[in-house]
Amino acid sequence: MTLAVNGGTPVRTAPWPSWPPPLNEAQRELVTAVLESGRWGATQGGSACADLTAAFARRSGVPYGIAVGNATLGLFAALRGLGVGPGDEVIVPAYTFVATATAVLLAGATPVIADVDPVDLHLSASATEAAVTPRTAAIIPVHLAGSPADMDALNAVAARHGLAVVEDAAQAHGATYRGRPIGGLGDAGVYSFQSSKAMTAGEGGLIVCRDQAVHAAIWSVCNLGRTLDGAWYGHPSVGWNLRLTEIQAALLLPWLDRLDEEIDHRNAFAAAVERELASIPMPASHDGTALPRSPGTVAPATVGTTMAPVTLVPQPPGTTRDSRHLLMLRLHVPFDRSFLLTAMEAEGVPLDGGYPPLGTMPALTEADARAEPCPAAEAASREVLWVRQPMLMDSPAGAAHIAEALAKVLAA
Ligand SMILES: Cc1ncc(COP(=O)(O)O)c(C=O)c1O
Repeated sequence: MTLAVNGGTPVRTAPWPSWPPPLNEAQRELVTAVLESGRWGATQGGSACADLTAAFARRSGVPYGIAVGNATLGLFAALRGLGVGPGDEVIVPAYTFVATATAVLLAGATPVIADVDPVDLHLSASATEAAVTPRTAAIIPVHLAGSPADMDALNAVAARHGLAVVEDAAQAHGATYRGRPIGGLGDAGVYSFQSSKAMTAGEGGLIVCRDQAVHAAIWSVCNLGRTLDGAWYGHPSVGWNLRLTEIQAALLLPWLDRLDEEIDHRNAFAAAVERELASIPMPASHDGTALPRSPGTVAPATVGTTMAPVTLVPQPPGTTRDSRHLLMLRLHVPFDRSFLLTAMEAEGVPLDGGYPPLGTMPALTEADARAEPCPAAEAASREVLWVRQPMLMDSPAGAAHIAEALAKVLAA
């Protein structure tokens, strides 16, 4: 057994739920049917990709969808289909997975990294507005951790400057913004089915969109430059084979029937974590000062009248359903971050350190990218910790373990 932080028994010894969860009967049946049909590719007349696409479009409140190999390629295809390419700039948030920006590079455009809101950590509308130049062609709001970006504010910036909006919905299957499903709130939305996501086929992605012409253009990018009604070997424009397989779609389609229940479970777990965090006392060694504030960081949180050392990162305004891909925790007291991560692991409650600011990643500093000042993303990279999705599938006892381990480690 691993020793806990003070050499005692770890707070949590039982394993956390694994991800993906075990196959259910509906998945087993559909995957078997597809395997036995021999129609494994999406161009062989099978219906799994088409059904998955239609279901996702419906759930996103739009008429069109295209299933693709992964969300990185989906973002690329959406940008290309919307006419974004060399010479253009695309604004992306500074606190996101690297693919949001590398998809822009793949499209031949320049990612421009704008800061996030200091409280909710989603792309800031004011930072976006400030980053617009005559070359800006699009913005990519990310529905980070499962909660929707403030789309009304971001769409207003886009409308003022005539920009396309591609929602990065990789982490937010099933989330809603002001009662409307995400994915269908911009010109295109892109979901991921990579292994860590709320629905997974190991890999996979899906683009949804509202406009018929945009759908035709994105479809062509994903289908080697063909047109929907053109000759098989016509290829009037340049495109690639970015298609999902029928086998992957067969794993995903039945998942839609249990997605809402799983989201509800994670939300209940998140609420339990929030309650438990409120009971963590300020570390005795703590002298009452909060983390040294840098511009853009939030004031220490209070729960009731007590200053809380750790709180949940709040959701952006307009969040009506968070799909809880992960739970972001914010630390409000000075602490050695790497000790905290190591000690939490030793307590059987492994947390994730989260993203470094996008603009500091070598992949982007060495590429054709531009980073605006991003103090809020820098603060997040120092102060924010993640509880990963599989842990959110645990029973409420898991929420108590998270808080108990944090209290123990902060007091060490
Ligand atoms: C915010 C975000 N965007 C894009 C991606 C890329 O998705 P994929 O791995 O399907 O290419 C991911 C996850 O992997 C992500 O978390």
